[in-house]
Amino acid sequence: MKRINIPFLCLLTILALNSVASAQTDYSYKNKALSIDVRVQDLLGRMTLEEKAGQLNQVNGGSLTGPQAANDPGQQGKLKQLKEGKVGSFLNVLGAAETRAVQKIAVEESRLGIPLLFAYDVIHGYKTVFPIPLAEACSWEPALAEKAAGIAAKEASAAGLHWTFAPMMDLTRDPRWGRVMEGSGEDPLINSVFAAARVRGFQGNFDNQHLLACVKHYAAYGASEAGKEYNTVDVSRYAFWNTYAPPYKAAVDAGAVTVMNSFNIFDGVPASANKFLVTDVLKNRWGFKGFLVSDWASFGELITHGHAEDAADAAIKSILAGSEMDMESRVIIENLPKLVQDGKVPLSYVDNAVAKILYWKFKLGLFDDPYKYCDPQREAATLMAPAHMDAAREAARKSMLLLKNDNKTLPLNKNAKNVLVAGFFADSQEDALDFWCGQGQAKDVVTYRKGIANLLPKVNISYAQGYEASGKTNAKLLADLKKKAGAADVIVAVIGITGKHAGEARSLADISPAEGQMEMLRTLKATGKPFVVVVHAARPMVLTEVEKLAPAILYAWIGGTRMGDGAADVLFGDYNPSAKTVISFPVAVGQIPVYYNAYNTGRPHVDGNEGPNDFWVSRYRDIPNSPLYPFGYGLSYTSFEYGELGLAAAGTGENPAWTAKINVKNTGTREGEEIVQLYIRDLVGTYVRPVKELKAFEKISLKPGESKTVTFTIDTAMLSYFDENGNPMLEPGKFEIFVGGNSRDVKKAMLKR
Ligand code: NOJ
Repeated sequence: MKRINIPFLCLLTILALNSVASAQTDYSYKNKALSIDVRVQDLLGRMTLEEKAGQLNQVNGGSLTGPQAANDPGQQGKLKQLKEGKVGSFLNVLGAAETRAVQKIAVEESRLGIPLLFAYDVIHGYKTVFPIPLAEACSWEPALAEKAAGIAAKEASAAGLHWTFAPMMDLTRDPRWGRVMEGSGEDPLINSVFAAARVRGFQGNFDNQHLLACVKHYAAYGASEAGKEYNTVDVSRYAFWNTYAPPYKAAVDAGAVTVMNSFNIFDGVPASANKFLVTDVLKNRWGFKGFLVSDWASFGELITHGHAEDAADAAIKSILAGSEMDMESRVIIENLPKLVQDGKVPLSYVDNAVAKILYWKFKLGLFDDPYKYCDPQREAATLMAPAHMDAAREAARKSMLLLKNDNKTLPLNKNAKNVLVAGFFADSQEDALDFWCGQGQAKDVVTYRKGIANLLPKVNISYAQGYEASGKTNAKLLADLKKKAGAADVIVAVIGITGKHAGEARSLADISPAEGQMEMLRTLKATGKPFVVVVHAARPMVLTEVEKLAPAILYAWIGGTRMGDGAADVLFGDYNPSAKTVISFPVAVGQIPVYYNAYNTGRPHVDGNEGPNDFWVSRYRDIPNSPLYPFGYGLSYTSFEYGELGLAAAGTGENPAWTAKINVKNTGTREGEEIVQLYIRDLVGTYVRPVKELKAFEKISLKPGESKTVTFTIDTAMLSYFDENGNPMLEPGKFEIFVGGNSRDVKKAMLKR
């Protein structure tokens, strides 16, 4: 492009003329030439109290993702409110055409024409469904999650959406909780890095190919007692700062524009009305500058919790705590204007919140082009684009855990003549996807049976149902299974839990395989034929019995649209599995919560030490303390050997640091990836510290026979923790350093500072 040189004086004249012109014509929020801040202030100045409350009102416009409210005004009522400027955002309205039509009403028929924000739960894909977030985290590859979030954003934004209620980073230790699938497991660091990666992936550079992200559910929702949905949370401030808070903070630091209040209480006060959480920590301490949205009806639920007298009181308590947008309880739209007039809520609270929401509407460019996300052609070309589907397959296979592989049963031989695929879930598209699969459709899912058939077009693939959808079996199904097993060279048996039991309001007390599934496995074992088990589930299951029966177990999780292709790649060796679990697998339900980063207690017990001198200790009498598969565990088709751990001082006087070096060798016969993990234990502290804490990790790739030295730098931040007030604590003393391929099998060294 040719550069035009304008003489300096001449330039000044042009600028002066321009500003006079715009000042004379349009000095208002509609003037694109003005800064966002000026436009926001201008618009605020023109708004009535009702219109301001409208910006804080988010309304459901599509299928329900929460309970139907008694005060729901219905479609006509919502339309009327929209025209009156009393709705600022819709959730669950989607599609380029539909969002355009609704936006048109807001822009053309409301007094000030303020555009709407369209929000939706884009959790692990919009139309192309990726593995559940918990599974994706087992890749220990944040870049993979960032890419998946980017693709989800690309599809959802092409379908008219501006904002996703994701990522979710509620650390949990309870696989009974249905929402365990949405987060990244039991570790603060893993949850933090995946939260930040997903925020980056969703938000990009805020163009119309991306979505605003939402940090949820703030805070500590994953600590619901007994894994029961919407249950009480009662964690100490010490646990909050050290365990639950870091992932939310990481997402805020990554620039997430919005935060969602959680349903639970924290220190006895519901999160939506919790000033400590919202104002003291999130806004004042962490410097969060975006805006908050309640969870579905959580402002109104202050009444049911027993914290607010009535709807007006709920509105006061939510707003004064620092919460802002009201999703679906209508306590704001119905009460706020009067509360401000009566002096019960200062106007400044309202103006600050509304200004932030308007800021983002300007920033996304919606005032200048309200339809910039509503292009049906772009939508059609984007959804399930081939590159997206390929990425989903890649993510699926990188998320799958090889939990057992006796005698190298896996990978299976691609030259087999007859493969039997057994189990109802092996071929059920209806059970493949979970509640949070966006607009993903069962008909687009590649089942395990189909994935194997795709990979091996020349092999004879038979199928036996094995058990019913309910998990029960019967003589007829078992007879058919036996007959088909007799004719097969090898059998792939799929068990698990339907995707319908994954997600919100889907807690389960029993997470063991159904009896009919076990009967199928016992029947297969009795045939003497080689068989492997694939587990289809959105949570860790209790696999103690399966582990005894099966020579090989592949944990496929709920792998999304391309789950069957991803599983086939792993089963038949096109992909060498590398995932490691980010959540412990319990031996029995009674062991929950079981997690690696626990405290030692005053009377610890080590499995294997049972005996007369090991009586008055912290243990069960009937099961071990250790989980079936520990945090960080997962096998490969090759093997890795770890050398000794070397520790050396590396920093300077003011910035002390150390290096931990370890040699890792591929001792097997095929190339593979290994996730090298660094854990630390602070042996003595003012406050007791966990027996191990993950502080760093690196995924490396090694050819057969190849070795690499992995070097971790340990800085003082890795040696510190928080007291119950959130103050950092860095104390002198001894720290045990561990490096290994999982949290159990590690090499050790001692660090003194
Ligand atoms: C309730 C869920 O807790 C939250 O995660 C979700 O974003 C909203 N419903 C909206 O669907």
